[in-house]
Amino acid sequence: MPPELPSVRKLRHIDACLTGAVEYTEVTTGFERYRLPYNALTQTSLSAVNLETVFLEAPLSVPLLVGAMTGGAELAQTINRNLAAAAQQCGVGMMLGSQRIMIDDEAATGSFDVRDVAPDVLLIGNIGLAQLQPAMIPYLSKALARVGADALAVHTNPLQEAIQAGGDTDFTGSLSQLLELASSFDYPVLVKEVGHGIGAGAARLLRGSRIAAVDVAGAGGTSWAKVEQLVRYGEVRYPALAEWGVPTAQALLEVQQELPGVPVIASGGVRTGMDAAKALAMGASVVAVARPLLAPAVQSVDAVVDWLGAFIEELRVCLHGCGAATLGQLRESGVSPIPS
Ligand SMILES: Cc1cc2nc3c(=O)[nH]c(=O)nc-3n(C[C@H](O)[C@H](O)[C@H](O)COP(=O)(O)O)c2cc1C
Repeated sequence: MPPELPSVRKLRHIDACLTGAVEYTEVTTGFERYRLPYNALTQTSLSAVNLETVFLEAPLSVPLLVGAMTGGAELAQTINRNLAAAAQQCGVGMMLGSQRIMIDDEAATGSFDVRDVAPDVLLIGNIGLAQLQPAMIPYLSKALARVGADALAVHTNPLQEAIQAGGDTDFTGSLSQLLELASSFDYPVLVKEVGHGIGAGAARLLRGSRIAAVDVAGAGGTSWAKVEQLVRYGEVRYPALAEWGVPTAQALLEVQQELPGVPVIASGGVRTGMDAAKALAMGASVVAVARPLLAPAVQSVDAVVDWLGAFIEELRVCLHGCGAATLGQLRESGVSPIPS
């Protein structure tokens, strides 16, 4: 059989994420093990709760990013433009899906064009670590400039690639490529996983580097080892691989421990404003949400705005209920572990 076109594979991923059972079923994010302190004598006014922050030098109305998802196919264009226009309306940031496809195929470029509907949004481009070869760096710079990106996220996904038919399975030398890029590139370089988590062991390897932020993309939400098995085999043939990863809450704590001072994005199974509040109280700079935004993004800008609006409203109530008028005060309040 001829190899599948990347744009076709992207569509199969989208389809699996819209219709398949692709979330972890055994592993959870771990946020349910913590409680946000409730303060019955809060002195805050709900309408005055201030969620503003600055991330990568960009102002955000809310410490939230649309997670990296897609690009390349016609449907991906609709998805990206709906997400971007909604991000502009809500004052949140956006991570694009992997831009490899637009580097390989000029025709795919249009699906990443969102700046006209999102002129003020913090926009983070994306590439896979396994594809990060020195020869492609000039093309990568061009791709980032073309979409008007403010930064680059490099996703590391050895488990996903190992399961994907024809995936990139040679990660030798990739760490030094990443560190070299972070120290010399024209854009701030972030590192992210895709839902299996960056934990202490990986974070330690980034010590002393010029990585601008780490998105833990931990376990407990979308399992890409599950998505790839459903796409490749039509079933989950290796259930243990599908449930493998560093849970998001654990990853968040471990990365901060290993890389003090490096901003951390909490993502992977962040589903509610309460999840977000706990992650921010535990030290995350911002949170990111991917798969829950996919179905609304297929529908319309308004559907994405509705989803984000409900999430943000819950987050706002969380701050009010724990006596925090700002994100700084939320962080001071912290979380308490629930005794098991
Ligand atoms: C349809 C879809 C496509 C994705 N494509 C990418 C991608 O191109 N690059 C990337 O870094 N992550 C990609 N991801 C992974 C997400 O950014 C995120 O790390 C992961 O889904 C876990 O977050 P979640 O539980 O909120 O979905 C994709 C996720 C989805 C749902």
